[in-house]
Amino acid sequence: MTHRTLIIGATGKTGTELVALLTRANRMPRAAIRNRQQASAHFAKANMPLEQIAFREFDYARPETWDAALQGIHSMYLIAPPKELGPEPARAFLEKAVERGLQHVTMLSGATTGDIEGSLLHEVEGCVQELAPSWTILRPSWFMQNMLHWLGTTIRKEGQFYTPAGDSQTPLIDVRDIAEVALATLDGSYHGRILTLTGPELLTYDDVALKISIAIGTPVRHIALEDDEFKRLMVENYGWTPGAADHTVSLFRLVRQGKEARLAPDVEEVLGRAPRSFSDFAKAHRKAWM
Ligand SMILES: NC(=O)c1ccc[n+]([C@@H]2O[C@H](COP(=O)([O-])OP(=O)(O)OC[C@H]3O[C@@H](n4cnc5c(N)ncnc54)[C@H](OP(=O)(O)O)[C@@H]3O)[C@@H](O)[C@H]2O)c1
Repeated sequence: MTHRTLIIGATGKTGTELVALLTRANRMPRAAIRNRQQASAHFAKANMPLEQIAFREFDYARPETWDAALQGIHSMYLIAPPKELGPEPARAFLEKAVERGLQHVTMLSGATTGDIEGSLLHEVEGCVQELAPSWTILRPSWFMQNMLHWLGTTIRKEGQFYTPAGDSQTPLIDVRDIAEVALATLDGSYHGRILTLTGPELLTYDDVALKISIAIGTPVRHIALEDDEFKRLMVENYGWTPGAADHTVSLFRLVRQGKEARLAPDVEEVLGRAPRSFSDFAKAHRKAWM
């Protein structure tokens, strides 16, 4: 069988969901992964059929892995390289992909940072628009799934979580909706569109805490910290690197400035239904916090 869609970031939050959708549609996705053993364990844990996924080694930092990953590829789901590598590997990789016959790219960007000149995501968006014969850019708001991973990891033990978000509002989106939109765009139907993807409602992190509390039947508190306090706590108590803490604080600063506080109709336009709500997300994932 030919494997025609390459998923960059296949083990990431949105990539995993897209791989799941493509396998369910019998479309044998080609999953770009850095470590075969870890990737197999990751997909097995998610109860996904390994025999229906074509794994290819791919690392932005190792151009020698790119050729094999690109062979016979028609469309691609692309996430940007990690911050420390900058946009250049994305440009070089896209040039090679187009030379090899790539037709369409759906790129995962970000609702606010995608629009900021000089940011990594804005630069990669520019490369995609310049090089891909057909492209769609997805600019999602913050993911609900962050509450299962880095932002929400303290809930189970402490009954609380920390942010430097103050009382700012964000239209958190479920990554399953992002993946469904991505799937709908892979055939080029939304060529030339920048789609802003938001959840159905604007939420403060106090709202998020309340919804998780209702889902698990135990009080959960949101502790809003100043930037410096947040950085210190994450580095000293939770093992974050200073760089990761700084980066997170800079993203939350944009949230505090109200830059994420808007709803967009694009998910509903593409999927023909409203985006998933945080209350439903919290109910579905309640065991993760108990
Ligand atoms: N999280 C949010 O709320 C949010 C909101 C809007 C936009 N975004 C954007 O979405 C993208 C993904 O964000 P995330 O932090 O949530 O990531 P994520 O889901 O954890 O995914 C990161 C993926 O990148 C892969 N990766 C890491 N280094 C790589 C390399 N050198 N070469 C190839 N693949 C590599 C990882 O693979 P391994 O498994 O091998 O590490 C993983 O599959 C970012 O561009 C971010 O700016 C995120």
